[in-house]
Amino acid sequence: LKVDPFDLVVFGGTGDLAHRKLFPALFRRFLDGQFTAPSRLIGASRQNLDDAGYRATICEALQRFSSEAGRTDALKSFLDIIFYVPLDVGADTGWDLLAKKLSADPSPVRAFYLATTPDLFGMIAKQLAAHGMVTPGSRIIVEKPIGRDGASAARINDALGAVFAEQQIYRIDHYLGKETVQNLMALRFANALLEPVWNSAHIDNVEITVAESIGVEERGAYYETAGALRDMVQNHLLQLLCLIAMEPPASMEADAVRDEKLKVLKALAPIDVSNAAKLTVRGQYRSGASEGGVAPSYTQDVGKDESMTETFVALKVCIDNWRWAGTPFYLRTGKRLPQRVSELIVSFREIPHSIFSPESGKISKTRLVIRLQPDEGIKLWLMLKEPGAGGMRLRYVPLDMNFAEAFAIYAPEAYERLLMDVIRGNATLFMRRDEVEAAWRWIDPIKEAWGQSNEPPRPYFAGTWGPAAAIALVERDGRSWNEEIL
Ligand code: BG6
Repeated sequence: LKVDPFDLVVFGGTGDLAHRKLFPALFRRFLDGQFTAPSRLIGASRQNLDDAGYRATICEALQRFSSEAGRTDALKSFLDIIFYVPLDVGADTGWDLLAKKLSADPSPVRAFYLATTPDLFGMIAKQLAAHGMVTPGSRIIVEKPIGRDGASAARINDALGAVFAEQQIYRIDHYLGKETVQNLMALRFANALLEPVWNSAHIDNVEITVAESIGVEERGAYYETAGALRDMVQNHLLQLLCLIAMEPPASMEADAVRDEKLKVLKALAPIDVSNAAKLTVRGQYRSGASEGGVAPSYTQDVGKDESMTETFVALKVCIDNWRWAGTPFYLRTGKRLPQRVSELIVSFREIPHSIFSPESGKISKTRLVIRLQPDEGIKLWLMLKEPGAGGMRLRYVPLDMNFAEAFAIYAPEAYERLLMDVIRGNATLFMRRDEVEAAWRWIDPIKEAWGQSNEPPRPYFAGTWGPAAAIALVERDGRSWNEEIL
């Protein structure tokens, strides 16, 4: 499916995100023949480069981060549509050059990707308007986190809104572009089986785990000011929670879906200074065995003697509405955990009465496991009879649906899908202003409560599942994290 010709300007064009994610994703879409000439990709940043110099940096990035870099002829044609404008966002240099470049042979669709820190978002929008670059076909794409709390997010949204209409603003949460996340909507709303039991009468609890084995890598400076709550929970984990918990939208149209997600965010039971100690756990990794070696501690990674930044969060979240009252959602995310795994586990309630003798074995709860990464797939864990004539022996086994095996086709990376959605003008998988601000309204009191408690995050060794208190958080409710079936 070809998209209309477009000009995509990437602010922060020499940065980590552009190298690791954006250009490899664009290259894949280009290889798939989705671009229509004369589309252009224009990098902008403070570095003093010309087109050839910039193409060389992108070529190098693709060698590192794209499995397709060996396709040399295609790579050459791709590099030919890449251009560069040296530009200092805070100064007045470069903007006229960018305006000139865009007005020469303009494409109907113009997209500005802000792969920069959020404090530059407002300034960039203002400069784009001041230099006459905002056309009716323009759109702006901003990376999470939008701000660092509700107030700063509102300021950024105001600044963007002064120049762009809400429909022109694409707030990216790349988790929404992951295949399995979209599949969650297919699973829930394209099957008659689940929706009747998708409520607290039948579901005991929901677990959302987004575990990473890596540490903070080269992003220590950013991470130190963010922490796991702002970096992961405010956006990725809450978005996953919304998709699991929302009411069926009337259609897949952007606002229909976003209206339903917003209602979930508004129904989250507040966590603040009165209950944060009971409902939240934060941790920070210490040196430990990880990824086949010994990983340094978080403080070593960021070069500090001490830090109050959390690299792990576990939360017990309740949703105060009819569908979910009585079903806790346990969320956890962290760096330097034993494995990279993102998974949603929906545990159904116990059977009301067993007709089987104790010798048949323990009856476990039915669980639906939706694995986002790696090995995307869906498993439904059920009790079944073990084959054999020795009587009724029950076994807990999964109906196993592995996407790679079932569909032997390439599954695009999140950014591939999302970038093309922007060009097509489809905002369903992007966050609306009110959603982002509602998420912050729920997050801010947690941050405040942690600030007031003055306790440092609890230590955990790299390569473990976080502080012991995270286990206690769930065990207090007579449950446990589902490590045994991960
Ligand atoms: C980003 C966070 O949004 O998501 C990173 O800023 C994190 O800290 C990353 O590593 C995880 O994304 P993925 O797609 O690798 O799960």
